Amino acid sequence: MKKIKLIFQLLLTCLILMSLIFVLQAEAADYYTEVILQEFDGSDNPAYIANQGRVYDANEVFEEGIYEDWEAGQNLTEEIADNEELAEAVADLESVGFYIDKVFTEEELAKFDGEERPEAYVAVENIVYDVSDVFSGGEHRGYQAGSDLSEEFDQESPHEEEMLADYKVIGLLVDKTLSPAELAEYDGEGDNDAYAAVDGLIYDMSELWPEGEHYDYFAGENLTTEITNSPHGAEVMLDVGLTAALTEMLPESTDAPVDEERGLLYIFIGIGVLAVVGSIALGTHSFIFTLRGIDN
Ligand code: HEM
Ligand code: HEM
Repeated sequence: MKKIKLIFQLLLTCLILMSLIFVLQAEAADYYTEVILQEFDGSDNPAYIANQGRVYDANEVFEEGIYEDWEAGQNLTEEIADNEELAEAVADLESVGFYIDKVFTEEELAKFDGEERPEAYVAVENIVYDVSDVFSGGEHRGYQAGSDLSEEFDQESPHEEEMLADYKVIGLLVDKTLSPAELAEYDGEGDNDAYAAVDGLIYDMSELWPEGEHYDYFAGENLTTEITNSPHGAEVMLDVGLTAALTEMLPESTDAPVDEERGLLYIFIGIGVLAVVGSIALGTHSFIFTLRGIDN
């Protein structure tokens, strides 16, 4: 009887442990940038690919990292959109994280409100989704696009988190962006925190590098090239907490209307300057000719 009880207790403990591992795994949100994804090319690490902002375990399809003409370890969004055979081969893969090549601050996200711009984006748990088709005119059930709806989604909506898998991932919502000069202040010296940038994202290394130093490399710097050449590779960054992003990761499109306006302004100024110079030149020319005419 005692034995049965013991076996039962063991089984129960295993079950609790397994569900705990499952919950922890489900909550881990891994952010892969281009440089991190490159490490998952099927040689040292399993073969992963990115499609529409998500990273998938493609090990079964990409044997030794290769499937037909395509190689794992990269973002294949365009290739998948252009090729039915590839699209079919990768249709049922399991998602293991997000592919991040763009970030938004709340201020930037607010610009994609589906009104001023046709794109309607919302953030849930730091991930920015394209919800243009549901938030028509920028609104869905009284909620506005261009904002962080994490709480509303979790507490007020009838939706399960899984439904977000149907929406294209655009980027990552971050609290702040830093220029390289601003990053340099986070060098781990004195009371300063230690930050390091890898492929546009900024990680908090304060606990790992209390002195702000790691094998002759220093916090406060962009270490993308250095980590790619290090013995461990960029995948170690998957286990480090993100704290910010380099300003260059903000969407370029945000400034497009301003740039277009500026472009037009430059064209008008150019035409104006040409007109003035032209008329002066012509004026002088005809003036000289008139003078010559008088002379003659
Ligand atoms: C964050 C992104 C969200 C997406 C992608 C999304 C998507 C959708 C879709 C596709 C539908 C079904 C079509 C429709 O009725 O329009 C729907 C219904 C609905 N959504 Fe959302 N939604 C989001 C956020 C929210 C939030 C924050 C709320 C907050 C209350 C909400 C409340 C509802 C309600 C009440 C319905 C109707 C459900 C029903 O009729 O059974 N949604 N949503
Ligand atoms: C030649 C240069 C480097 C050497 C020899 C080196 C060596 C190591 C070693 C031995 C470890 C612990 C074991 C492991 O995880 O593999 C480690 C961990 C780590 N390294 Fe490097 N590393 C170098 C460059 C870099 C660079 C440039 C970064 C940029 C951010 C970096 C970030 C990390 C991180 C995040 C960890 C995991 C956390 C930790 O164990 O401290 N490493 N490195």
